[in-house]
Amino acid sequence: MLTPSLKTHRFTIRAFTAADLELFTHYRSQPEVAKYQSWSDFNYADALSLFEKMDYQNFGVVGAWYQLAIADCESDILLGDLAVHFIDDEQVEIGFTIAPANQQKHVAKEAAVALLGYLFNTLNKHRVVATTDAQNVASYRLLESLGFRREAHFRQNIFFKGAWGDEYQYAMLRTEQATA
Ligand SMILES: CC(C)(COP(=O)(O)OP(=O)(O)OC[C@H]1O[C@@H](n2cnc3c(N)ncnc32)[C@H](O)[C@@H]1OP(=O)(O)O)[C@@H](O)C(=O)NCCC(=O)NCCS
Repeated sequence: MLTPSLKTHRFTIRAFTAADLELFTHYRSQPEVAKYQSWSDFNYADALSLFEKMDYQNFGVVGAWYQLAIADCESDILLGDLAVHFIDDEQVEIGFTIAPANQQKHVAKEAAVALLGYLFNTLNKHRVVATTDAQNVASYRLLESLGFRREAHFRQNIFFKGAWGDEYQYAMLRTEQATA
């Protein structure tokens, strides 16, 4: 299946193109964006390598991660991205990163609502999960405002950037989507 292009009121959610990589590198390399993420430094070569590995022609392969661009629907300028991981045939993990200048403007929320609609209503997935650092207030507030349930608080389950850290796991079932 091809990677979808989803339209929202303000955004297009689509596959990345080479033209997005400069902005992608710029926001990923900012310390406040990297703080709770798997990377510390991020450069253009990292962005290019991630982009080249992405199989956008075969969206939905179990085990694979896909990075989706959130772009302004008029200018097509990159504002942030969504990450989608197909855990198995029925369950999907998602993640979010929004460029600092675009944060707290409901960019992640509007994009995630569209993605959840696509995953549940078009692909008919059963359950969507997300894991976040327990100190990442923006991330867990976003998940709660989308209607995700906190299912777990893992205590010091991850040795992360020099210290043991806690994580929350959140989930939403297809049957819970309407209440979100
Ligand atoms: C987490 C992140 C994606 C949120 O994106 P965003 O576009 O700023 O979030 P939104 O504007 O859509 O906000 C969604 C909700 O979260 C709340 N929220 C967002 N940022 C917040 C913050 N810093 N503090 C408290 N609440 C916050 C909003 O108030 C909103 O709640 P509401 O629906 O009740 O109004 C963004 O902060 C980010 O990219 N952080 C860096 C990368 C990261 O850590 N990603 C998560 C990894 S798991």
